[in-house]
Amino acid sequence: MPLAEARVSVEDRGFQFGDGVYELIRTYGGRIFHLEDHLRRLEQSAEAIGLSIVYSKSRWKEILEKGHARSRYPDAKLYIQITRGAAPRDHSFPKKARMSVIVTVRTLVPLPTELREKGASVITVTDLRWGRCDIKTINLLPNVMARQKARSSGAFEAIFVRDGMVMEGTGSNLFAVVGRQIVTPPKGPAILPGITRDLVMVQAREARHPLLEKGISLEDLLGAEEIFLTGTTIDILPVVQVDGKTIGNGRPGPTTRRLCQQFLQTTRL
Ligand code: PDD
Repeated sequence: MPLAEARVSVEDRGFQFGDGVYELIRTYGGRIFHLEDHLRRLEQSAEAIGLSIVYSKSRWKEILEKGHARSRYPDAKLYIQITRGAAPRDHSFPKKARMSVIVTVRTLVPLPTELREKGASVITVTDLRWGRCDIKTINLLPNVMARQKARSSGAFEAIFVRDGMVMEGTGSNLFAVVGRQIVTPPKGPAILPGITRDLVMVQAREARHPLLEKGISLEDLLGAEEIFLTGTTIDILPVVQVDGKTIGNGRPGPTTRRLCQQFLQTTRL
């Protein structure tokens, strides 16, 4: 149905409590990109909050492909949101409620070419999020606040910092090149296990770049040779400024550019 006609109850627990999970998937050249990985993560997120998803992989594929075909968008953002459903407001789980499953299809507006070519600036913010950032929940208020702070100061993204260590962006994972080695914070409860992050790691290893999952201090980040962000809608985005400080020579570095080219090829397969 047209997006403007879709409705949920005011008693939906997604609306009342942020009691739900989501996924954002994209298409390249009309094909859904790494659907299985996204569905696996959706299942893990749902399970972590005590929801069990009833659709099979083929059912999801059918729904998403049909929606995408009907939209006629050349490239689309496919958004899935699952909440615990509508029930009278009470914190504990309702005995009887049907999950609300929502799929939206939006056109994908590519990032400005200039931003990609020149690189983005980011700010750092204190990580005020909870202890399970590995679950892709719809509770995004700290992310919303931090992203707004970035945009108000003219930056593209905000990077969360916990106890002096950098974690990830509000909607992206973080990589840096430090001492010729590509580093990225390890998976765990403090970051979202990004699908793009995994792909970039596989590609970096294939290209025999030295790569290590390890904690990155804010100090190391500020002194990094290169920095880039990864995410479904941005793929790989070079970062050239952190808190107003120039990174490297202020232009996207050679390792980042090589990885970008490599990534672009896989999207065309
Ligand atoms: N965000 N970290 C956070 C906190 C995220 O919200 C996202 C994705 C990522 C990157 O994950 P992936 O490569 O699987 O997209 C990392 C989506 C795009 C969003 O909320 O819109």
